[in-house]
Amino acid sequence: MAIATFDKSKPGDINFGIGQPAPDLMPVDLFSDFATSFFSKATPEDFNYGAVGGDPGFLSALSKFLSTSYEAAVSPQSLFLTAGNSHGIDLVCERFTKPGDTILVEEASYFLAFPIFKDRQLNVISVPTDVNGVIVDQLEAAVKKHDPTAVYVIPDFNNPTGVSLSTCRRLELVNLSKLHDFVLISDDAYQMLSYTDASNQAMGALVDAGNVISLGTFSKILAPGFRVGWIQSSERLLEKIRETGWLNSGGSVSHFGSQIVRYGLESGKQEKHLQYLLSCYRGRVTAMHDALLHHLGNELTWEKPLGGYFFWLALNSKKDVGIMREESLSSRTGFQPGSLFSSDADLNHYMRLSFSHYTEDQIWEGVSRLAPIIKSN
Ligand SMILES: Cc1ncc(COP(=O)(O)O)c(C=O)c1O
Repeated sequence: MAIATFDKSKPGDINFGIGQPAPDLMPVDLFSDFATSFFSKATPEDFNYGAVGGDPGFLSALSKFLSTSYEAAVSPQSLFLTAGNSHGIDLVCERFTKPGDTILVEEASYFLAFPIFKDRQLNVISVPTDVNGVIVDQLEAAVKKHDPTAVYVIPDFNNPTGVSLSTCRRLELVNLSKLHDFVLISDDAYQMLSYTDASNQAMGALVDAGNVISLGTFSKILAPGFRVGWIQSSERLLEKIRETGWLNSGGSVSHFGSQIVRYGLESGKQEKHLQYLLSCYRGRVTAMHDALLHHLGNELTWEKPLGGYFFWLALNSKKDVGIMREESLSSRTGFQPGSLFSSDADLNHYMRLSFSHYTEDQIWEGVSRLAPIIKSN
């Protein structure tokens, strides 16, 4: 994975470039508990090929979990098991696009989605965003100009900007997907990591209103290693996904992992763990906000994120962050440069810091190490 790295990881490194859960937030005991529940009831059939779209028991447990989260009924039939959102993005591109097609993305967007679009030989075109997410007028103009097959958005707590798409814009976007017949790929990786009571309409609740494919994952609310996620969509679009040849040959992806996660969902322990994560991340986001204000309040501009993992920092001086990144790596502190998140290598005076991977003390320490580097460049 192309993250800001050091030659070799050492104790004391603080790499805010890593957008992953921290080791202290990986509840290995809980995983063992889920697995024990599964093995105590498992039958030989549980180890056979799984149903193409996912085990019915898992899908039923997931539908209940999502219904509570969305405060709207989610049927198991609208869900399809994936190996996480990276897999979901690729699967949707495979099924709904062909080489040479155009996909519209937000400026800025998730940098590791770009290689997937490249694998599928798609032309990537960026559309500007503001504090309410992608600017719909500009998106509509781009749709008319480029006739895209797909539009990829991260509506909740975007990676890297932390911004969320307003409900009003969600509805407009869904409507456009119907009007102009493109597939709206909604990467909802961070939708459950909200640190306030404010919320927007879940994209999963809009799947019947347009060509919406909502992608969800347990990577950020449990552990990436399970490789368990889901697609939520309309029957019409799911039918095309179910016809995938290699899924018909091999059965569902992540059949085993999903059986383990199922026990977390059914026992209510996944929900409890999510609440625990939210309380930890609320502390971490505040720690990073306070540390940045204390050390770099005059050098940088940002909005405190209301969810997700990321701070998107603009350098007031509009200096290029390339040299700062080199210097920060030599002081064993990392971040991601903004240009990584642009499909056309713009955004040079932005940087992305993730607060998910380190404790509050480590966050203060890391920001204090970055401060002299940013001030002196
Ligand atoms: C926006 C976004 N999509 C997808 C992923 C990867 O998700 P998964 O682990 O489910 O493949 C990430 C992980 O950082 C992400 O930030």
